Amino acid sequence: MKVVGKTTTTHFTFESLEKIRFGEYVIAKNVDGRDVLGVIKNVVADVEKFVGEVKVIGVLDGNKIIPNRTPILPNSEVRLCDDEILNNIYLTPDGLNIGHLLTRDNVRVYLDTNKLVSRHFAILSITGGGKSNTASVLCRELAKKNGTVIMIDPHGEYISLYHEDMEGKIKVINPIINPVLLAPSEFANLIGIGDNEIEKRVYVEFAYHTVKHECPDAKGIEFIEKIENLLYEWSKIASVGWEIKYYNPLRRNYDRRKLEKEDFVILMSLIDTISKFKLDYALNIGDRDVIEEFEIGKINIVNLSGLEIPQMVTFVGFIAKHLLLKRITYLKSLKDVYSINEEIRRVAQSNLNIIESHYKVVTKPVLLIVEEAHIFIPVNEQNSASLWLGKIAREGRKFGVGLGLVSQRPKQLHPDVLSQTNTKIILKIVEPEDQKYIQRASEELGEDLVKDLASLGIGEAVIVGAAISLPSIVKIDKFDGVYGGKDINIVGEWMGLDDW
Ligand SMILES: Nc1ncnc2c1ncn2[C@@H]1O[C@H](COP(=O)(O)OP(=O)(O)OP(=O)(O)O)[C@@H](O)[C@H]1O
Ligand SMILES: [Mg+2]
Repeated sequence: MKVVGKTTTTHFTFESLEKIRFGEYVIAKNVDGRDVLGVIKNVVADVEKFVGEVKVIGVLDGNKIIPNRTPILPNSEVRLCDDEILNNIYLTPDGLNIGHLLTRDNVRVYLDTNKLVSRHFAILSITGGGKSNTASVLCRELAKKNGTVIMIDPHGEYISLYHEDMEGKIKVINPIINPVLLAPSEFANLIGIGDNEIEKRVYVEFAYHTVKHECPDAKGIEFIEKIENLLYEWSKIASVGWEIKYYNPLRRNYDRRKLEKEDFVILMSLIDTISKFKLDYALNIGDRDVIEEFEIGKINIVNLSGLEIPQMVTFVGFIAKHLLLKRITYLKSLKDVYSINEEIRRVAQSNLNIIESHYKVVTKPVLLIVEEAHIFIPVNEQNSASLWLGKIAREGRKFGVGLGLVSQRPKQLHPDVLSQTNTKIILKIVEPEDQKYIQRASEELGEDLVKDLASLGIGEAVIVGAAISLPSIVKIDKFDGVYGGKDINIVGEWMGLDDW
């Protein structure tokens, strides 16, 4: 095989008498005499020969690749790159073993665990492209490293996740929230009051502060019932047009407001909303909060199935906020217990005690994986989940809180958060607009790789970013355990042939 025609530092063309394949790795020399690795990006078949167009990846320097600065030597020999060289390039200490190079069954691809977690990642594809399978493979590999993962699972797809290597390392959590820990606006979202229902929000806020002030020990469902009762009292007052007294936390005193007949209607509708919420979500309200359920060294699966979107968003916002803030408090307190100031030492020790007994999960780095991420960080809207997931994307790295986004609607993900995810695992994406959107959010995703996205098969991924040695096309392993994302055998079930 020989280089033909003119060359540059980034591209060359070669001829071969043997068949050559798209995506193969080849080695040629540059004019400095150094071995240069390239990948075949196009193959043309001619009479009795094949012509390969190659994109240069870089100079082979031991097991590393460094930038190539001189053109490929014209007319020089080209050879296929050995599996061994490629294996050495992709082998990463403590890496996650996720699949093999698409064009080489024998070259295993590892992702650098530290970089994947600390610099965040996204798994994107059309529906059915293999995202959940990829996430399951990642969880299996992370479990082998005793990783602490929190998987946000809107459809209950992972509740049956199982693999023998994950024995005893999976915990399914039905989320419970203690409403007292929410801000009033978050509480209003939780019970299902829309952003535009301003008057209802005002009364929820009044009642929330009043109950918190008058019944400081009320928690869980009791707290909600006290709010409901207070609103009922206020509705009676509204029906006769008298004044109510509500607590104002800013002034630390009671304010008064005269209610009218219209307020009666608003209050009754609010009480109705709360009763419905209690019926639907009684099991999700409690006096412990979900963060207390998370365990270190486990894949903690938060089963959000059955919740409506506003409640899911409230839960995810709550989880993201408390994970980040408690982890920051933990790391700060670890330092502050050595402070020369006694008061600082005392506060730090008390924080550490609370964290040790209730929130142990934050004593280790943690990875938050969010399935259906477009629900939580939508492009045109801010909500409590997008606020806190955005903060994790920007600041989590410093505190060992990682974020992984999974979505089949990349264009609906907020671009700022998507671009903070450094490693992109991109399975089949057909829509050119989706491709461009992802490209804008990825530094390393070149035109040539974008062109490949539409032709990928299921489970085949373009991977770029800090966690992989080279931008590459990888066949992700089929998860060899159980997870709930399998395609349903529709005809089989209709015909009664399913093998459940
Ligand atoms: N790497 C792979 N190798 C072989 N089969 C795979 C691979 N990845 C996924 N599949 C198969 O493709 C189907 C869809 O995969 P998966 O559930 O992971 O897709 P998805 O992108 O999460 O889909 P959705 O957008 O609907 O959530 C499954 O039946 C799965 O077994
Ligand atoms: Mg899926």
